[in-house]
Amino acid sequence: MQGKILVVYYSLEGNTRLIAETISKEISSDILEIKPKKSIDPHSKMRYFIGGKQAITKEKPEILPYDINPEDYDVLFIGTPVWAWTFSPAIRSFFANTDLKGKKIALFSCNGGGNGKTFKNMKEQLEGNEFLGEIEFKDPLKNDTKENIERAKKWCNSICK
Ligand SMILES: Cc1cc2nc3c(=O)[nH]c(=O)nc-3n(C[C@H](O)[C@H](O)[C@H](O)COP(=O)(O)O)c2cc1C
Repeated sequence: MQGKILVVYYSLEGNTRLIAETISKEISSDILEIKPKKSIDPHSKMRYFIGGKQAITKEKPEILPYDINPEDYDVLFIGTPVWAWTFSPAIRSFFANTDLKGKKIALFSCNGGGNGKTFKNMKEQLEGNEFLGEIEFKDPLKNDTKENIERAKKWCNSICK
């Protein structure tokens, strides 16, 4: 695979971070973590309510500035946790902040059991790009962590070959 590669992700509880870091290390790419200005407490029981509402109402929370330009890359791996059967609000903010067109894009997600419309909804936001693949993981920090790391490595290598 020719070109510059970037892994972009948001993670509240670390699952998507684990996969994002695994992929980035495996293919030696740059990595960008999207961070909301006002973060939700990952230990609070309220997180489902607060985050779920944000996702359902398609909020775009303010995110911290970052100093790399995703538009400079040819291939982007974009990762999100599933919130209320779709992608996370921080990733919605990321999409609003960038104009990705003519890129090669691979999508990954972490969920607690159901991916819902996550990839379909992300692709709608990413019209005008080519999709190379998609993969979901079920809470990889809790379930079969080693196997999931291997699965992530295999997957990103198959995309980048
Ligand atoms: C606000 C919120 C909403 C969630 N909604 C879903 C859902 O609709 N379906 C699902 O399978 N898991 C859901 N989950 C579980 C997460 O997707 C799952 O635990 C994921 O691995 C978390 O990724 P992270 O550790 O990168 O934040 C939700 C979690 C939160 C905090």
